[in-house]
Amino acid sequence: SGNYTVSLIPGDGIGPEISQSVKDIYTAAKVPIKWEEVDVTPVLKNGKTSIPEDAIISIKKNTVALKGPLATPIGKGHVSLNLTLRRTFSLFANVRPCVSIQGYKTAYDNVNTVLIRENTEGEYSGIEHEIVDGVVQSIKLITYDASERVARYAFHYASEHGRNKVTAIHKANIMKMSDGMFLQACRAVAKEYPKITYDEDLLDRACLRIVQNPEPYADQVMVMPNLYGDILSDMCAGLIGGLGLTPSGNIGKDASIFEAVHGSAPDIAGKGLANPSALLLSSLMMLRHMNLFDKAEQIEKAILGTIAEGKHITGDLGGKASTQEFTDRIISKL
Ligand code: IPM
Ligand code: MN
Repeated sequence: SGNYTVSLIPGDGIGPEISQSVKDIYTAAKVPIKWEEVDVTPVLKNGKTSIPEDAIISIKKNTVALKGPLATPIGKGHVSLNLTLRRTFSLFANVRPCVSIQGYKTAYDNVNTVLIRENTEGEYSGIEHEIVDGVVQSIKLITYDASERVARYAFHYASEHGRNKVTAIHKANIMKMSDGMFLQACRAVAKEYPKITYDEDLLDRACLRIVQNPEPYADQVMVMPNLYGDILSDMCAGLIGGLGLTPSGNIGKDASIFEAVHGSAPDIAGKGLANPSALLLSSLMMLRHMNLFDKAEQIEKAILGTIAEGKHITGDLGGKASTQEFTDRIISKL
């Protein structure tokens, strides 16, 4: 029980296990939140699969949701529910911080960047057709409005978080019109933020540079079209220890949904082996979004402390702990 109500989508695969971990830690930390569990099993509406009305009502009312992973079918079948959620609530910016965890050893200890991904269009438009046998066209849809909206969010985020540079990631050398227009929108918004340095970098070159040396990207925000952000965020996750550690927030005007960057991991589902850190860290982005800074700080310390200590970490991080042991250790540090 508490003063705030948050919609909770436990999700598929490892979703329920890692959601339980978050709930246990929040109870122990006395976070003033009441969870409202919602079922997003798709329903048929006018011949289209969509999210159940109750779930939509809950998220609209609460304006914040925490979401476990939802399985996305590969190839034909219904549209990814993840995307349906992003589109239903116009969650136009996907914020993906990627920060080295001190004490958890990887090739670098100085990764500290934030990726902001356009979250509603691009190659994710879902517009595809077979023109003739053996020839398929997939539409990458880019609008100036959505580009400007995510660019403005990136600059706003940078100014609020003390990051002094925004780099737009693109392939305008090839996609001259779509990425070219994305850059035009970024340049226009950059003029509104004279204190923030604006730069542009090609996606391929940025990938190369970050894996060679993440240092120049520390204290930056990178903003980019949808698919580039999908790929680059997994790559950056690899620099800090994998998808078990990277959180995200899908930000909209009327609602925001926080979720791990990873998927439902069906191979380890139900075995109590999953690392709940990414969902936990996503929930902390949510707490900060709700201005519950003290609780976020307290829980973050306990999570990072547990990982750094290295004795009760899950298999993905090289340890032997179960989800429960890892969770209990965090609770003992609150
Ligand atoms: C992500 C995921 C999703 C995406 C999938 C599950 C639809 O990979 O959030 O990065 O491609 O955006
Ligand atoms: Mn992805």
